[in-house]
Amino acid sequence: MKAIIFDLDGVLVFTDKFHYQAWKKMADKMGIYFDEVINNRLRGVSRRESLEIILERYEGAPLSEKEKEDLMEYKNDYYKELLKTMGPDDVTEDTRNALKLLREQGHKLAIGSSSKNTKFILKQVAIDDMFDAVSDGTNITHSKPDPEVFEKAAQFLGESYDNCVVVEDAYAGIDAAKAAGMTAVGIGDATSYDKCDYKIKSLMELTELFK
Ligand code: BG6
Ligand code: MG
Repeated sequence: MKAIIFDLDGVLVFTDKFHYQAWKKMADKMGIYFDEVINNRLRGVSRRESLEIILERYEGAPLSEKEKEDLMEYKNDYYKELLKTMGPDDVTEDTRNALKLLREQGHKLAIGSSSKNTKFILKQVAIDDMFDAVSDGTNITHSKPDPEVFEKAAQFLGESYDNCVVVEDAYAGIDAAKAAGMTAVGIGDATSYDKCDYKIKSLMELTELFK
């Protein structure tokens, strides 16, 4: 039996549009150009690193640490307002069934996400009882492509890294999985990345791959 570690944003739930709207609101306030192409670079990347990527286009005077903290808080406050509009219907039937079946097959399931909002989101969409461990932005010091978030998930589960499978939509997440010595399954955007060990269209395919 395998331990299967799921990324959250872009794999189990589709919060990218909310990240985009919230960063866009902050960027507009600061007069910084920001679009969906730049938003794609934020996939799997921590809140702090996301801010730095957006600030590459900032032409004002250098910002203090306090100003950066305030900008991240401004973004996150609005992001959380948007997250509150999510509910159980925001997890697809396919995803719900796949998680249930994988558990019945005896696999251990965990979350490996850079997001500090992970536990809030899991509760909001009512899948917080489906996982044996949650490793997220609150328990790491290095974000993807560093393997820390997945290594911590394996440690929480008491599993060896080589018995873990990571399911990811971000290139940075696939790199992180491989750096940890884990099997990397790409879904969504990550299916165009040649470092994936497997590529899937639906989470239900996991129940066949790791029977
Ligand atoms: C990842 C997202 O899951 O979490 C990134 O893919 C995001 O886009 C990161 O920046 C951090 O999220 P949060 O919720 O802690 O701001
Ligand atoms: Mg993701």
